[in-house]
Amino acid sequence: MVKKWRSRRLDRLGSSIFAEVIAWKNEAAERGLDVISLDIGTPACPPSEEVRSALSEACLVPGHYQYPGTHGSPRFREAAARWIRRRFGVELDPNREVLSLMGTQDGLGHLALAVTDPGDSALLPDPGYPVYQAGLAVAGVETVPLPLLEENGYLPDFDAVPEEAWSKIKFMLLNYPSNPLSAVADRAFFERAVAVARRRGVLLVHDNAYSEMAFDGFRPPSVLEVPGAIEVAVEFHSMSKSFHMAGSRIGFAVGNPDVLGTLRALKENLDFGVFLAVQEAAAVALERDIENPQPASAIYERRRDLFVNALRAEGWDVPLPRATMFAWTPVPAGWTSRGFARRLLEAEGVAVVPGNAFGERGEGYVRIAVVEPEERLLEAARRIGRFLRENGPVPG
Ligand SMILES: Cc1ncc(COP(=O)(O)O)c(C=O)c1O
Repeated sequence: MVKKWRSRRLDRLGSSIFAEVIAWKNEAAERGLDVISLDIGTPACPPSEEVRSALSEACLVPGHYQYPGTHGSPRFREAAARWIRRRFGVELDPNREVLSLMGTQDGLGHLALAVTDPGDSALLPDPGYPVYQAGLAVAGVETVPLPLLEENGYLPDFDAVPEEAWSKIKFMLLNYPSNPLSAVADRAFFERAVAVARRRGVLLVHDNAYSEMAFDGFRPPSVLEVPGAIEVAVEFHSMSKSFHMAGSRIGFAVGNPDVLGTLRALKENLDFGVFLAVQEAAAVALERDIENPQPASAIYERRRDLFVNALRAEGWDVPLPRATMFAWTPVPAGWTSRGFARRLLEAEGVAVVPGNAFGERGEGYVRIAVVEPEERLLEAARRIGRFLRENGPVPG
């Protein structure tokens, strides 16, 4: 049935698979199953006590109830610039090269509206995080998929982009460490990507939401570490993953001042910025991290080891994630992504996301988020093991 009050644009938004997984979970819970939710990537713990106190004190300041403005408070932008300098060795002008956001979701979702016109296209990772596609759909921009294949370490082959596509491409989006792939990229990769952006005259947009969540000593770089990258690149940083602030919405963008100015100009017409009390708390989180870094990765690294080892002991040799809170793994032979996720949830109450929720190239995989406490992860691994034994062959 055609819905009168629903735009056609909405039909191009996101994948309905996430909604399906929620429906399957509800069904399973109604049948009395104890559901273990390894589908959505919510943070494992709250922000530090100091950050929560800063937030509660800032809530009592009468002046913080004025419209904050989309640029972001000077304290927050300066803290962000100092944090970027300490973490990546990159100097930024906090006035022109830092912009506050209501989470990276806000910036990534709105970017296409700010920098493209209908009929343009953009290069998006496939598989990739769904808001990239949603942003293009809202802006009426075509997607050119950038396939990320296991055999290439999930890094793109820029030469495989059809030559004729480049003239319409306004920006290309990269995301390392990657959701859902949990793949990482080093500085040499970003040097190549910046060179491609320059040669092709496109903007390079890097989503660095998981910069503080890599394992085995790997420190994900910023694209802005590449000399001259600021001429062609912007990068998005999240307070949600690095500082457990997913609910108190805040993030920031850094990089090319013209692009940030354009995004800010758009947002000035759509929103009035982030609650000043949240900006104060986020500034405290950044300042404390500058003095005494406490990487968010430790808790997830422990969980990753525990969970992957438990799955391997059950006979499923899932690849070891190098970063993020996600394991990305092929489904056992003979299953589709959707079929596997659905049956696993029906039979054992373990919720995972079918890989094709993130794009065509995700078919054949599932994403499992290690977002439950350790004993629940072990329980999930036991149930998955039972499911695999009762439902056919286990891969490699
Ligand atoms: C790759 C990626 N980018 C951006 C976001 C959005 O994060 P934020 O909470 O900063 O809006 C997420 C959230 O899961 C993500 O996985």
